[in-house]
Amino acid sequence: MCGIVGYVGPKNATPILIEGLARLEYRGYDSAGIAVISSDGALEVRKAAGKLQNLRSTVATAEPEGYAGIGHTRWATHGRPNDTNAHPHADCSGNITVVHNGIIENYAELRAELLAKGHTFRSETDTEVLSHLIEDALASGASGLAEAVRQALRRVTGSYSIAVISRDFPDRLVGARLTGPLIVGLGDGENFLASDIPAILRHTREIIILEEGEIVEVTRSSFAITDIDGNSIEHTPHHVEWDIEAAEKCGFPHYFVKEIHEQPHAVTRALLGRVQQTADGPSVRLAELDRLAASGALNQVRRIVILGCGTSIHAGILGKYAIERWSRLPVEVCIASEYRYADPIVGPETLCLALTQSGETTDTLAATRLAREHGAPVIALTNVVGSAITRLAGAVLYLQAGPEISVTATKTYVTMVTALYLLGLWLGERQLTLAPEEQQRMLTALQALPEQMQRVLESPATDEASLRELTAYLAGRESCMFIGRGAGYPLAMEGALKLKEISYIHAEAYPAGELKHGPIALLDPNVPLLAMALNSHTYDKLISNVEEVRARDAQIIAIASEGNSDIAQHADYVLTVPDAPEPIAPLLGIIPLQVLAYHVALARDCNIDQPRNLAKSVTVE
Ligand code: F6R
Repeated sequence: MCGIVGYVGPKNATPILIEGLARLEYRGYDSAGIAVISSDGALEVRKAAGKLQNLRSTVATAEPEGYAGIGHTRWATHGRPNDTNAHPHADCSGNITVVHNGIIENYAELRAELLAKGHTFRSETDTEVLSHLIEDALASGASGLAEAVRQALRRVTGSYSIAVISRDFPDRLVGARLTGPLIVGLGDGENFLASDIPAILRHTREIIILEEGEIVEVTRSSFAITDIDGNSIEHTPHHVEWDIEAAEKCGFPHYFVKEIHEQPHAVTRALLGRVQQTADGPSVRLAELDRLAASGALNQVRRIVILGCGTSIHAGILGKYAIERWSRLPVEVCIASEYRYADPIVGPETLCLALTQSGETTDTLAATRLAREHGAPVIALTNVVGSAITRLAGAVLYLQAGPEISVTATKTYVTMVTALYLLGLWLGERQLTLAPEEQQRMLTALQALPEQMQRVLESPATDEASLRELTAYLAGRESCMFIGRGAGYPLAMEGALKLKEISYIHAEAYPAGELKHGPIALLDPNVPLLAMALNSHTYDKLISNVEEVRARDAQIIAIASEGNSDIAQHADYVLTVPDAPEPIAPLLGIIPLQVLAYHVALARDCNIDQPRNLAKSVTVE
């Protein structure tokens, strides 16, 4: 949540900051702002509530010019999303400004203390205490800006990544991180700070990912990293291989639909190097787990807990079905925000799988930390290299999906499920509970998946013209019901989440057998039912549930497997996808649901890539 960018170098900072913020807007879009130290030494701040476009307009009327600056795009936590609460936030003198991602948990007591000392606050934000603490530290003789930031941060509890500039130190930026992400970009005679790589990739591929609790001071020709006590820390820069095009729309109108179309390739990458051909057929190889396995930490594992939120938890429920079936280890799937306060039963016998595409979700981090503190070995599944979750894990399975910019998750969902299935097969082999033929059947099916996904993307199930009538019908609904059984149930959950997230249509998912225990009361001719009717051992049971609904005149939209000649008599609309083994079929079934949500949202004129009230990584509770 919230994006940060900083620049120091020979060029005018303003366009660089604005361009960087455009690439970070997925992190929050309640307001945006910049602060630039102009060539005559003034600290110029521009900010505007709402989308970045509003800041662009503000800047266009009076563009600050200078060689050092910081910028911010906000997802509001403390204080309404208005101009005053937009970052950057200045101290009393207006000499120092701070941008911040995260939450200062003890801000109320710090604010009271600073007010008592005579400081004047302008905003309702927690962030503003930082500017005043830095001001205080400098007034008390701190030896420089970095030292003042260190002193200020020692007073603070909570989570943060920050960037700071001061007109008294016009040649430098100071950045710091604790839980929130922050990277340093190393250019040629210029340097950068940013929350995420795409913000600065146009300018440099050499980056340093700051670790928890580190503070960096950056000038145009140098950088110095320390811990909070000022002890210096060495880092080797990391070269970014992927290019900016990978993070851009490539001709698609929205990132959401571009990323839907990238799913076949993303799954190919998620499988890359993890499925080996042997004389007996394909076998799974997860080198990332070797160290953890060799440490003996998995030897006492008797159960698994999967932690995550939102789409990641939907991936986790699919993972549960597969992992239990293959490894015969009991799997509990827990929503991280509940788990962390539930006094859970967890110890070294519980393997914790932490699922978070961003690697930054506060609830998932806290729940995972709790499991780890109780001795549970942790495997993280994430898409973001070096993200916070990787530091809590004994091993990391990267999704390898490439950057996902749309706030609404698509390719990270299918790659997370793919990685979970590989892990399930690996555990099954280790537990000696999985017949080699079943393992090979699943791996063969996973290898066929990218090609099958591509077929779905080229089929009537995702073709705009073929979906036109259904799109128009759904776009006019207030409410929809999704049902499924077995692996079809988490598919229904994910389909419903996509629809509600981007089209704002109320959508609920139920296990099909539960309908008649209450939710069926909601159905009438205006509430359509989307039935996950993929081939499975519970197909007939699902059809009985569909018929119960048809008897109440609801319209039925079925997601079915190719070659199913039965389904047409039970449904008003049928979207078919290639047949696949039961656990794998939802990875095909989700594609028409994503595409349908996209067209319905377009028809309702919704913001596709930045749905209202949402943010890509949720770094608050
Ligand atoms: C849905 C979506 C969210 C995230 C959730 C967890 O499209 O993106 O529901 O899945 O906020 O995010 P991560 O996986 O980053 O922990």
